[in-house]
Amino acid sequence: MAQPFTLKNIISIADFSKQDILTILKTAREIQQGKISLRLLEGVLMATCFFEASTRTRLSFEAAIKRMGGDVIGFADAAVTSTKKGETLADSIKIIGQYVDGIIIRHPLDGSARLASCATDKPVINAGDGSNQHPTQTLLDLYTIKESQKKLDELTIVFAGDLKYGRTVHSLAQALTHFNVRLYFVAPPSLQLPPHIADDVKGRQIKFSFHDSLDGVLQKADVVYMTRMQAERFSDTNEYMRVKNMYELKAEDLKGVKKNLAILHPLPRVAEVHTSVDTTPHAWYFRQANNGVVVRQALLAHVFGKL
Ligand code: CP
Repeated sequence: MAQPFTLKNIISIADFSKQDILTILKTAREIQQGKISLRLLEGVLMATCFFEASTRTRLSFEAAIKRMGGDVIGFADAAVTSTKKGETLADSIKIIGQYVDGIIIRHPLDGSARLASCATDKPVINAGDGSNQHPTQTLLDLYTIKESQKKLDELTIVFAGDLKYGRTVHSLAQALTHFNVRLYFVAPPSLQLPPHIADDVKGRQIKFSFHDSLDGVLQKADVVYMTRMQAERFSDTNEYMRVKNMYELKAEDLKGVKKNLAILHPLPRVAEVHTSVDTTPHAWYFRQANNGVVVRQALLAHVFGKL
């Protein structure tokens, strides 16, 4: 029998068992099929605390909450909060936790979501902490991979772009270690996967390899996960300028790829997926962003013990 979902704080995908992941994906599917009542969050007040810019994560969480009958308060810019006056993150979260039933936080510092979860007894959901983790993005990425490929096993998945600072890559690579997959990591050597994530992949006996070009790799893929060079995380602007246009996937590059190849991107994109790809059957990134609402609805329903 499947174990019940018991995670209260959603901080790192590494805290999820395979069953936890499958439970969220199954519930999201049932929500999408209209099999689950959407009013599960009536009476629940959430705070979205975004100390760093966002379009999709914040608005899809807020849409998910409101469509489930819950309510939400919050801010989208740390500059309008008392952080500006020197308040610590722990103090801010301690206070906000007294006003609401749960907190969704995005913050530029690695580890900030874990710190926040120690400052309040209310559930804390990590909406991206620095270059560390973005667990709810991973759940919608997995949902989209399953939707496009009809399975999560026996897949060849290519990650390309900024694998060092790309938190969505770190979370998704860790989640994929629960499945039987072959992984290719394509990045300039200076932006390859951090050793601690590579060690996790290695420890789970997943076949993987490192590359600096998509040449010869693209044609093997069932899924290509493109990522933006994370300009905001570079300390050296010259280094960013050197790598920023290293990968630019165009429709003409897709000759000879698998018929069912799905191109994913957490978005926002800059130059790495050309708009010519948008009208090909391989473009799944807009659908992926759309899936953020049902997946976040499923997660919230389980975190608040409504299912
Ligand atoms: N994928 C993602 O995190 O997008 P936003 O930065 O717009 O939230």
